[in-house]
Parts: sequence; structure tokens; C-alpha cells
Amino acid sequence: MKKTILTGDRPTGQLHIGHYCGALKNRVALQKDYDTYVMIADVQALTDNFNDPEKVSKNVYEVAMDNLAVGIDPNESTIFIQSLIPEIAELTVFYSNLVTIARLKRNPTVKEEIQQKKNLFKEDVTFGFLGYPVSQAADITAFKAHLVPVGSDQLPMIEQTREIVRRFNRIYGETLREPEAKVGEFPRVLGMDGRKMGKSLGNAITFTDTAEEIINKIKKAVTNEIGVKNLLGLFEQFSDDKGTIKQVNQQQEDGTLRYSEFKPMLAEAIIEKLKPIREKRLEFENNPDMVKEILFEGTKKARKIASTTLAEVKESMFLNYFK
Ligand code: TRP
Repeated sequence: MKKTILTGDRPTGQLHIGHYCGALKNRVALQKDYDTYVMIADVQALTDNFNDPEKVSKNVYEVAMDNLAVGIDPNESTIFIQSLIPEIAELTVFYSNLVTIARLKRNPTVKEEIQQKKNLFKEDVTFGFLGYPVSQAADITAFKAHLVPVGSDQLPMIEQTREIVRRFNRIYGETLREPEAKVGEFPRVLGMDGRKMGKSLGNAITFTDTAEEIINKIKKAVTNEIGVKNLLGLFEQFSDDKGTIKQVNQQQEDGTLRYSEFKPMLAEAIIEKLKPIREKRLEFENNPDMVKEILFEGTKKARKIASTTLAEVKESMFLNYFK
């Protein structure tokens, strides 16, 4: 029996090379060895985009195509849409009894995000946003996932999921599985402006960028200390030339690295790696019915699994009145 992976993306924009290094590479590499479920987390995306539902809806297909383009194989893995699995919402309600407000407020990622979203939330925060780690615990446990490949910003979510699982199992009896996180080799990719690379920050390199766009973005990249470290890290991720990787790192250490020469090399390495991804994505862009079919079948399969878990959860909670 294969072990299970559950992972997800919020459909708020196209995925980018930050996701690629942090999570997607792992996801693709592991799909042969694990039963893999890739969730498009539209319900979670709405927690901070409730006033722009069209954006979320539109990006469901974009994120699906990004996953397919980087190599998620629909014959191997299951891609599905969160809002079509109501069982996840039901689990969220049950789990919400097992988490305090104070604990949610202490979650470092949520804390940071609330700070960043002052425009949206003003001095307060919505119930839905504060509680999204609970809903993420439902995402993960609905599939009894063993492993969750994520970026490092997601570690607090997995920790909180584990706490919920332990609490649930202690109170209602052994029912849920405690998942482990798996972070990629280069989990904190920065954008070309030196801030975290983000879908909505306009500082990302996406899978649909042309060679020219990539060259220009890298050309503009900041070269302060953390900026250069980021570019060198990207080179290591995207170049297959071990000798040159070693050389540029050495030059940086010696203070002899010439950014005007290094930047085009980095751009070239990224362009090369993204080329087949971009081409594959184009095939899906030209065939939206195929993407629809993949999502439809994936969602159907995912829902079966989540229903089984929900039935077990209800059984453990004595919510089985007509049995
Ligand atoms: N919170 C994740 C992100 O922002 C997306 C996500 C939703 C997720 N549900 C998940 C990731 C379950 C892993 C497992 O990227």
C-alpha cells in the first residue's frame, strides 16, 4: 500500500518559480511513490479574497494548468477543487471545537499575514481567515495524508494540524492520521525586488513568462546581500552545470562575481528549465476541456475518500443516529 500525499495551492494567481523550488518539484518527484492528491484551495483563497470571487474562480484553471505543466500526471495523481468537497467544510466545523482563538492568533504565518492584510481586515480579522489553519487541517486529514510537501511558510499549519489530530484522537478515539511536512531544498525564494516571491506582489517569474520577460526581470533583480544570495540559490536550482554553480559561488565569496555576466547565465538556466513546462502548459491552455475533465474526475475521486473519512469521524463522535 502506497502512502498518501495531500498538498494544495490557493488559486489567487499563477504559480511561480518560488512554488517550483519550494513545493512543486517535490510534489512531482514523489507522485510515483505516493498516492498524491493536489487540492486547488478555492475555499481557503476566499478567506482573504472574499471581495474578489471572480479572481479566485478564474485562477482555479490557471493553477490546475501550472500543476499539470510542471509534471503532475493525472494518471498518477488526483487534482481536485476544494469547494466541491463539502465533507472538508463539515470536518472544519468539528475541528473548530478543538482549537482556541489564542492558539490561532499565535500561528506565526497567520500572524504575519494579518499584519500584511491591514487594508482588508483593518484592526481586526475575520473568523474565516483566523480559522483557515483549521480548514487546512480538514484538507489534510480528510485524505489521511502521511506527507504534506509545502513551502516553509506552511510549517505552522502542519504543526497545528498535528495538534488537532492528537486532540481529536485523544477525545474521540484513534481516528485521524498525524501528517509530516516536507519542505523543498530552496524553500524561501525571494522575488526580484528582494521581498518574498508572491503571486500578488508582482515580483515573480511565472511559467508563462517569455524568455525576454525572464531576462528583463533578472536584469532588474536587486543585488544587495540577500538579493545575490537568492539569485545564487536560484542558479543552483535551475542550472545543471555543477562546475559553474561552484565557480559562481566561489567568485561571490572572493568578491569577484560580475553580476552583469552572472545574471544572463541565470536567466538562461531558468529559461531552459521552464521551456518544456511552458510548452506543456500551452497544450493545456489550448485544450480547456481536457483540464475540465481532469478536474471533474479528480474531484469525484477525492470526494469518495473525504466521505469515507467524514463517516469515520462521525462514527467516532457518536453522530451515527440512524445506523
Ligand atoms: N495554505 C497553502 C498555501 O497558502 C495552500 C493549502 C491549502 C494547502 N490547503 C492545503 C497546502 C493543504 C498543503 C496542504 O500555499
